Amino acid sequence: MITTRRRALFAAIVGAAALSAACAHAAPDVASTPPMGWNSWNHFAAKIDDATVRAQADAMVKSGMRDAGYRYINIDDTWEGARDANGVIHPNSKFPDMKALADYVHSKGLKLGIYSSPGPKTCAGYEGSYGHEAQDARTYAAWGIDYLKYDLCGLSPSMIAAGSLDKAQDIELAAYRKMDAALKATGRPIVYSLCQYGFFQPWRWAPSVGGNSWRTTGDISDTFPRMLRIGLSQAGLAKFAGPGHWNDPDMLEVGNGGMTAIEYRTHMSLWALLAAPLLAGNDLSTMSPETTAILTNREIIAVDQDPAGVQGDRVKAEGGLEIWAKPLAGGAKAVGLFNLSDQPAWLEVHFADLGFAGPVKARDLWAAKDLGAIWAYRVEVPEHGVVMLRVGG
Ligand code: GLA
Repeated sequence: MITTRRRALFAAIVGAAALSAACAHAAPDVASTPPMGWNSWNHFAAKIDDATVRAQADAMVKSGMRDAGYRYINIDDTWEGARDANGVIHPNSKFPDMKALADYVHSKGLKLGIYSSPGPKTCAGYEGSYGHEAQDARTYAAWGIDYLKYDLCGLSPSMIAAGSLDKAQDIELAAYRKMDAALKATGRPIVYSLCQYGFFQPWRWAPSVGGNSWRTTGDISDTFPRMLRIGLSQAGLAKFAGPGHWNDPDMLEVGNGGMTAIEYRTHMSLWALLAAPLLAGNDLSTMSPETTAILTNREIIAVDQDPAGVQGDRVKAEGGLEIWAKPLAGGAKAVGLFNLSDQPAWLEVHFADLGFAGPVKARDLWAAKDLGAIWAYRVEVPEHGVVMLRVGG
């Protein structure tokens, strides 16, 4: 994990860089809608191994998550072993046969993701891809990998040593381009997920280095304030996302135990409105029916996965009461009425303010209830809660 000291140092050097917008090169043929799946880090961190990954794949099928659209089973940091005399990376003893694991995951109708760093070491201090990019990409493709999270960490010392923002950014862009070219050269479609904590406004340039998604913030944790801080900080970033290239406010914490069910519904709703990758970060093999219901709610998932691929944004904020909306294909809108305050509150939305002329059909998505054709909606929302509507269309 990136340390607080290193993060502060790195942020001080690179955090203020302003970059011009780059044209999009990220391939929309992978990730035409935000990737959905699971990632090992939030729940298991270093305690991840072959058996646990297989159990997650089994649970993704059994819980109905696969049928709801989840596909990727992503192994995060700590799988890496040593390189052999030819420089080929091998997994450590927790993963005896990565190809066999990929075959197993594929046999369930799922896809397998992996993790590396452009630096010599990963965030957790394991072997990174520095100097072995093409070789690693070929190894991943030979194993049957479908997704790569490429985490900056180990490159930050050389960026810091570069001595200027521009030079540091040149190093970063070159590193991300190098792995993009290496992945493309394999001929295998592999989702390319950039992870560099939002430094240097990645939304402006990540598509130009091939990124299908890019982290926009530091790491999430399983607390309501942290989740909220990350989610709300996405305001204004909608214009940078679209099919094949997505803002990534980090993986889900739903089901990890640090928030209430109401707060997890708020988390899931906000991520859906943000067209964020939906990567569950809990233990799928032991989740409660309530967690399963939150993660598999088809109407909320449909907001995230809407084929128009337009990210939502904040419409209005008054104290802890916020309204966010996301345009959907066919002229409808998803609308989130968020009560982020510490007591129940009434929220009201007038559909004319969202661009609708006249009364429109509305539906409460979590309640699975049609509200009829209405001009406006006023509803009491519990503290830290949300009411999600689909309006019009
Ligand atoms: C960083 C990333 C996390 C995770 C860890 C693994 O902190 O932001 O998502 O991948 O590294 O070491």
